[in-house]
Parts: sequence; structure tokens; C-alpha cells
Amino acid sequence: MTLWLSGQLGAGKTTLTRGVLRGMGYTGKVKSPTYTLVEPYVISGLNLYHFDLYRFNDPEEWLAAGFRDYFNPETVCLVEWPEKAAGLLPVPDLHIRLIVEGEGRVAVLSAGTEQGKRCLELLRH
Ligand SMILES: Nc1ncnc2c1ncn2[C@@H]1O[C@H](COP(=O)(O)OP(=O)(O)O)[C@@H](O)[C@H]1O
Ligand SMILES: [Mg+2]
Repeated sequence: MTLWLSGQLGAGKTTLTRGVLRGMGYTGKVKSPTYTLVEPYVISGLNLYHFDLYRFNDPEEWLAAGFRDYFNPETVCLVEWPEKAAGLLPVPDLHIRLIVEGEGRVAVLSAGTEQGKRCLELLRH
């Protein structure tokens, strides 16, 4: 599954990812991949990858980094700053846009695939 996380610096993309990991039972450290570009996690045999493409200057860097293989039916990939690899990333199942509103945040969710639509349906109930 692929999730895109959009929103300005400080919108809460890393915090949301940390929440997802905590929700899945991961108790270890969750640090921002701003410098490493990707942080891998293994949770109950599931491979989850947290990307931050903020430092990309050119979408071609995504190809050069060899990240394409991380996106497959066996993995979960959360991508901060997907816009930085515009047109090269796989279509996201869910695109989460975070908007700062005072002390809180508004999350706008949209589905890009049938699987994503099913997730939104589940969230609604
Ligand atoms: N939902 C939220 N409500 C209030 N504050 C938040 C929320 N999400 C994140 N923050 C705060 O915003 C700051 C930046 O969050 P971070 O997740 O690093 O942003 P990003 O990864 O989008 O740059 C942190 O201090 C964090 O505590
Ligand atoms: Mg971040």
C-alpha cells in the first residue's frame, strides 16, 4: 500500500506517520527521514518504509536512489513530499493532505485506487 503525505513544513506528516506506527504496535524510535530519505520498519513481518523526499532537487533523483523496488504489493510505503518525485512515484492508494488550522490540523483524504476507496469506506464506519 502507498500513502502520500502532503502539507507544508510542520504540517504534521512525520507525526502522523509516528501515530500510524504506534497504532500498529511499534514502540521503538520513529525519527524523521529528512536526511536518510527512508527509514525502514518491520512490524509483525510487515515491511513499512517511511520516505521524506524534501531534499530532492529533481524528480530524477528518485530513480537514481533506486527506491522503485520498495513499492510492491508486500510493503507499505508512506511518502512525505511526494511532489518532489512528481510523475515518477506509483499512484497512491491514499493521499493525505494536512492543513494547519490554529493549534490543530485538518486532514483531507482522497483515494487513488480501489483499495484506497475501500480504506476510506472502512474509516467512514
Ligand atoms: N495533529 C497535530 N496537532 C497539533 N500539533 C501537531 C500535529 N501534528 C504535528 N504537530 C506538531 O507540529 C510540529 C511539526 O510536526 P512534523 O510532524 O514534524 O511536521 P512535518 O513532518 O509535516 O514537517 C511538531 O512540533 C508536532 O508536535
Ligand atoms: Mg516530516
